[in-house]
Amino acid sequence: MGWPKVYGMLLLLAFHALSSVFLVHPVDASLGVVYGTQGSNVPIPASVVQLLKTNGVPQVRIYDTNQDVLKAFAGSDIQVIVGIPNSQLADIGKTNATAAKWLTDNVVPYADVVNITAIAVGSEVLTSYQSYSTSLVRTMMWIHDALIANGLDARIRVSTPHSTDILATTFPPSQATFNRTLVPVLVPMLQFLSLTGSFMMFNVFPYYAYQANFQAVDLQYALFQPSALVADTYSNLMYPSLFDALVDAGYYAMQVLNFSTVNIVVTETGWPHQGDANEVGASTENAALYCGNLARRVMNRTGTPFRPQTPMEVFVYELFNEDLRSGATSDRNYGLFSNNMVPVYNVDLTGQGRVLQANSTQYQTWCVAKKDVSPQGLQQALDWTCGQGGVNCSAILKGGLCYEPDTLDSHASWAFNSYYQKNGNAPNTCDFRGVGQIVTYNPSYLNCVYTASNVTTTVGGGDFPGSSAASRLEFHSAFTIGCLSLLVVANLRYLL
Ligand SMILES: *[C@@H]1O[C@H](CO)[C@@H](O)[C@H](O)[C@H]1NC(C)=O
Ligand SMILES: *[C@@H]1O[C@H](CO)[C@@H](O)[C@H](O)[C@H]1NC(C)=O
Ligand SMILES: *[C@@H]1O[C@H](CO)[C@@H](O)[C@H](O)[C@H]1NC(C)=O
Ligand SMILES: *[C@@H]1O[C@H](CO)[C@@H](O)[C@H](O)[C@H]1NC(C)=O
Ligand SMILES: *[C@@H]1O[C@H](CO)[C@@H](O)[C@H](O)[C@H]1NC(C)=O
Ligand SMILES: *[C@@H]1O[C@H](CO)[C@@H](O)[C@H](O)[C@H]1NC(C)=O
Ligand SMILES: *[C@@H]1O[C@H](CO)[C@@H](O)[C@H](O)[C@H]1NC(C)=O
Ligand SMILES: *[C@@H]1O[C@H](CO)[C@@H](O)[C@H](O)[C@H]1NC(C)=O
Repeated sequence: MGWPKVYGMLLLLAFHALSSVFLVHPVDASLGVVYGTQGSNVPIPASVVQLLKTNGVPQVRIYDTNQDVLKAFAGSDIQVIVGIPNSQLADIGKTNATAAKWLTDNVVPYADVVNITAIAVGSEVLTSYQSYSTSLVRTMMWIHDALIANGLDARIRVSTPHSTDILATTFPPSQATFNRTLVPVLVPMLQFLSLTGSFMMFNVFPYYAYQANFQAVDLQYALFQPSALVADTYSNLMYPSLFDALVDAGYYAMQVLNFSTVNIVVTETGWPHQGDANEVGASTENAALYCGNLARRVMNRTGTPFRPQTPMEVFVYELFNEDLRSGATSDRNYGLFSNNMVPVYNVDLTGQGRVLQANSTQYQTWCVAKKDVSPQGLQQALDWTCGQGGVNCSAILKGGLCYEPDTLDSHASWAFNSYYQKNGNAPNTCDFRGVGQIVTYNPSYLNCVYTASNVTTTVGGGDFPGSSAASRLEFHSAFTIGCLSLLVVANLRYLL
């Protein structure tokens, strides 16, 4: 994209601004965890919600809009940031109408039951999916327009996460600039973020900086250990950690482009607890130090040396080990928990001396509609269930407690479950000619109650003997489309 186009974009933005809410995103100190699902036997969403509640995590970010996950978070008090996977950007960003349809189908039905706070459009697009770079801001604007059309723009922000590789240099922080080739995209993007009160999303990994240069970079500095301090001799600021220096590099680079009011949210940061022989520094001990020190750092409510008044909002990468990921051993070993929901190491992310803990969970069965089946088959089964099947379906009629979200899938699920429970979970009462399936998570949300089976088993940790292979597979494939991680943010505001 050349400069003339940028000016066109800026004009568009100026017009755009007339219709948008003028707010600065109120960043408050908060700490999060990335929840990826590229693991074998990943826990079902409802169990993950329980685990998060047990550990005091009230805010979540997911990379897509998986509806089972959104339903699990409904009515949970947990805030959710959703995302559009890179693989879906081209389709969703085709026109303003396709963007609006995506929002209407995937976000609007949940907006009343889930506290969705932001939409991350793509992931590291400028460095990992460059063919889309010039379309990215336009897509973000269309998503924002669709939010306005649905009256959701005041509470849902639009942004896109970046790798720190979009910076040409990061040290010293005060001399940092963006890679010049990306500036034509970054200027309108920052303009958009500024005008819509949104924030810059950065993924910040001191581990990689240390890895690449472990002879020169002090490990203690990379791990936020108190002894380490590095000076920026141009700004005369002292840096207590490499993390602080990388975040400030982002702030300085934005300032060079004259954007000084956009805040940074760190959408991923973490340290692997295991790595290949050549992956210096990957260890359980270092991972525990990094995450524990990071939590204390964030909860101190001070910002970076360059932005001391702006509390940090940070997401720890990541909640679970993802053993199905390719790449170096470290890529599969960032998890705070193994897939059976047992902590990998002891770490306190609350600053209250409370280390992460596993949870046990009650396990019963419910019946819901299968995904990716024909709408006709689903509609027929729904009609049958509420008719000959003898289920009282008033709850899914307009005004009923289970009417919202008003989707065929949701209505069929409620009806199927009622039939399945009414018939005492008898074999074949959750088939519906192949469009129903038994699950082990409670699909209830808000005041919409899904009756439970009367078979109860207590499971310690996360082995779910009853969860069907089919439902797990489905859960996987729904996510495998894109970047597979969910980001979970523990907003620690309430602790301070
Ligand atoms: C798309 O943009 C056109 C032209 O600006 C406008 O007329 C139309 O209403 C928009 N559609 C949606 C769904 O926003
Ligand atoms: C969503 O979370 C924010 C931040 O805690 C809170 O202010 C707001 O009331 C919540 N909104 C809903 C609908 O629960
Ligand atoms: C800047 O980006 C271009 C294109 O993406 C890339 O070829 C180049 O290596 C980058 N330069 C730096 C210093 O990162
Ligand atoms: C930033 O603002 C300064 C002072 O107004 C100006 O000289 C400079 O050209 C601006 N830089 C950019 C990238 O717009
Ligand atoms: C909080 O930050 C201030 C300023 O950086 C520092 O002086 C203080 O030691 C920190 N406190 C804790 C508990 O980390
Ligand atoms: C999870 O564990 C915590 C602490 O052990 C407990 O307080 C909570 O009730 C458990 N939640 C469930 C749903 O079992
Ligand atoms: C159906 O259920 C509703 C409440 O969910 C109840 O008010 C109504 O009386 C029921 N109808 C029949 C025929 O049982
Ligand atoms: C299980 O639930 C069904 C439907 O509510 C009921 O008919 C059956 O009696 C229950 N069985 C037991 C053992 O409670």
